[in-house]
Amino acid sequence: MSLSNPVKNILVLHGPNLNLLGLREPEHYGSATLQDIDQRLATRSKQAGVKFAAFQSNIEGELVNRIQHARRDGVDFIIINPAAFTHTSIAMRDALAAVKIPFIEVHLSNVFAREEFRHRSYFTDLAVGMISGLGSKGYELALEYALQQTTGD
Ligand code: DQA
Repeated sequence: MSLSNPVKNILVLHGPNLNLLGLREPEHYGSATLQDIDQRLATRSKQAGVKFAAFQSNIEGELVNRIQHARRDGVDFIIINPAAFTHTSIAMRDALAAVKIPFIEVHLSNVFAREEFRHRSYFTDLAVGMISGLGSKGYELALEYALQQTTGD
């Protein structure tokens, strides 16, 4: 195959407590619900003719499993907000390193303007890039970037 196949299968992963978006600390995370966010991403993906799936879990192992299965599922780009696991999860980091699927790390809040324990991420050095502090718009910008990428297979 050529070196310029468009990205065609995108997975969005949301970590713990993001199921509470809309209710949870709106001063940090805004008023959009997770459903609102996923709906906007799904609509844009459909318009672009790209397969899209979103998955949220409060359980680290479920997120690891979903990352591992992403290769089998033909996912060629991941957008991930690991939430609190950003700062703790070597297991999710290792899973992303293992599957070698390019990913963007997204945070709704500006983690660098918050507590020091949020400044460390186990993901950023492996990521294509990181968006932090742009609210739910960050996911949409990550998706636009992914839609402009090509894969090497
Ligand atoms: C977050 C930032 C994390 O520090 C926090 O634990 C979250 C959400 C964000 O989107 O801003 O749960 O990833």
